[in-house]
Parts: sequence; structure tokens; C-alpha cells
Amino acid sequence: MSLIAIIGGTGLTQLVNLEITHKEMVNTPYGAPSGPLTFGKICGLDVVFLARHGYRHTIPPHMVNYRANLWALKEAGANKIIAVAAVGGITPEMKPEAIVIPDQIIDYTHSRAQTFFESDLSFVTHIDFSYPYNDELRQILLKSADQLDIAAVDGGVYAATQGPRLETSAEINKLERDGCDIVGMTGMPEAALARELELDYAACALVVNWAAGRNNGHEISLTEMEKCLEAGMARVRHLLELALPMICNQ
Ligand code: HPA
Repeated sequence: MSLIAIIGGTGLTQLVNLEITHKEMVNTPYGAPSGPLTFGKICGLDVVFLARHGYRHTIPPHMVNYRANLWALKEAGANKIIAVAAVGGITPEMKPEAIVIPDQIIDYTHSRAQTFFESDLSFVTHIDFSYPYNDELRQILLKSADQLDIAAVDGGVYAATQGPRLETSAEINKLERDGCDIVGMTGMPEAALARELELDYAACALVVNWAAGRNNGHEISLTEMEKCLEAGMARVRHLLELALPMICNQ
């Protein structure tokens, strides 16, 4: 039986459809996760939820203890993770409100604790990371979107930037030249750490703004971002509700 973990990002600090059974504050060899793990059921299925930025949304992307989060979820028995994230759209298809199931990632972050394999090693370990997202989970997310008539983009390259500031328009041009389609601040090292712990991991990204310089020179408006988040996360919740039973029966 699978225990599915959902890591909620900006705009998803709780799951309204989760019937909470208990919350548990855990510690890990890497410190404390972003908050207590919330255990519960969605449509009768066991789920553990963690708000990446804390339940009051107070932890910025570069300060998230990604190692503790992933370790805690694994210790709790999770074997599959769906990571929800708000992102900026770079390429034309990645319009605000689009839901994207990325298939690749480029890491532009720095100074983050990005591996479990750095001390007390009996041998040096290099994980295979050619395909950072689990394709079975990706397909289930896409199928759920399709069944709900929710448009979802199949594939895209996620640029993981350091933040917490948004990018300059020149930086976004560079990311586009690198082949990136969407940009966010939390995709790494989260995806790599999940792979190190052998957890199946896929992301459901919601575009909440055009990336810097992509909206006819308009600055990025936080109010617009919030509007997209509210409408978009409601669709993400529906999508997850349909996807979870399919993931459990995998
Ligand atoms: N850049 C980086 N991270 C983001 C953005 C963005 O434009 N929008 C939401 N998260």
C-alpha cells in the first residue's frame, strides 16, 4: 500500500479535502522539516501533507530545509511524492493559470544543502538523474487533468533559481536560451533529494505570472499572482483528488 506525500507550495498550505487524522512534529538528522507532517485521508486514501514554506508561509525558498522535509516524509513511510509549486511562465505555452507537468529541470540554485551523500560515506554515490521526474506519476497527473477537462501541459523544462528575488528580464532570456519553459525557486534540490532517497517524485506546477520581461515589459504584479494562485490551486486540488486513487492502485 502506498503512502502518498503531497508537498504544498505557495497557495497550497493546506488541503481542504484532507480529513486530518493527526499531525506529527518530527525531527531528522538534518534538523526540523518546514512544519509538522499532517496525516489524513483523501477519498479514503492515506496521505501525508507538508507545506514547503511552513503552514503560515514564512520560510522563503532558499531557507527551506529540503533535506529534513524529504527525510521526514520518507521516515513517515511515504514512497511517492507529488510536489506542487507556483512558477513563472517563460515560453508562449506557459501562460498564467496553465498547469504544467514538467519533465526536465535545470538547477541554477547555489549554497543549498543538496545531497544526503556527503559524510560518513562507505563509498561515493552518484545518482542517475537523467530523467528527474517519475514518468508514471507524471502520466497519472496528465490523465487526471484530461478526465477533468483541465488543460495541462505535458512536459517542460523547469528552471530552479535561487531567489528569493524574482529574475531580471535578461536572466529570463538566458533561461529561455538554455531551453527552460518555466521558472521557480523550489524545484531543486527537492527533486534530487527525492531521487537520492528512492522516492518517486513528480511536480504539478501552476503558472502564476509571466516571467520577468515576458509581459510586454510590465512588471510582475503580486496581486495578479495571487489571483492566479487562488483560481489555479482550486483546479490543482481537483486534479490531485482524482490522481490519488490512481497512484495508490499503481
Ligand atoms: N520566478 C521564479 N519563481 C517564481 C516565479 C517567477 O517568475 N513565479 C512564481 N515563482
